[in-house]
Amino acid sequence: MGKLVICDHPLIQHKLTFIRDKQTNTKDFRELVDEVATLMAYEITRNISLESLTVQTPVAQTEGKVISGRMLGLIPILRAGLGMLDGVVKLLPAAKVGHVGLFRDPETLMPVEYYTKLPTDVTERELIVIDPMLATGGSAIAAIDVLKKRGCTQIKMMNLVAAPEGVQAVHEAHPDVDIYVAALDEGLDDHGYIVPGLGDAGDRLYGTK
Ligand code: URA
Repeated sequence: MGKLVICDHPLIQHKLTFIRDKQTNTKDFRELVDEVATLMAYEITRNISLESLTVQTPVAQTEGKVISGRMLGLIPILRAGLGMLDGVVKLLPAAKVGHVGLFRDPETLMPVEYYTKLPTDVTERELIVIDPMLATGGSAIAAIDVLKKRGCTQIKMMNLVAAPEGVQAVHEAHPDVDIYVAALDEGLDDHGYIVPGLGDAGDRLYGTK
């Protein structure tokens, strides 16, 4: 079973409180989400492998460490995932970015794939799927399905806030996927919003409410 990692660094928790606050305006919301994404990227990359590199300092030769192994790929789920992308790219500038667009069919309530554009070497990369909210898990599962259908095998999920229902659904559908969140909330309301959550992440990022 995949693990759930709660990134509970004090800086993340502090910023998340203001992200949740409905008084926070669009500009501040966007900046805070960006900052938390950077801090979460630090946590999510904690175990990436290193290799030795010898460099010459102004004083002596020394053996340092550099990132090695598989390359990274970032997969924001449109549209709210874009709000966390730049914050992650800041720490991982060499990562390539793929996009997955999903909408919810109003009849079946199932996620439907409407746009996918992935790096050509996506199957060779360790992927981080990015979406601020993990609510029912429907979009996350569908996005991971899209990646696995194309042959991707190394996938992690990054969310700001998750509901236990969503975590369970993703772990059941994709037991190989670890989930990194800034907070695990109480659950979902009748409209599928996370409680207490932060409202509609896309609307708050883009001021569309
Ligand atoms: N999507 C959101 O933006 N917010 C929620 O609470 C649930 C899903």
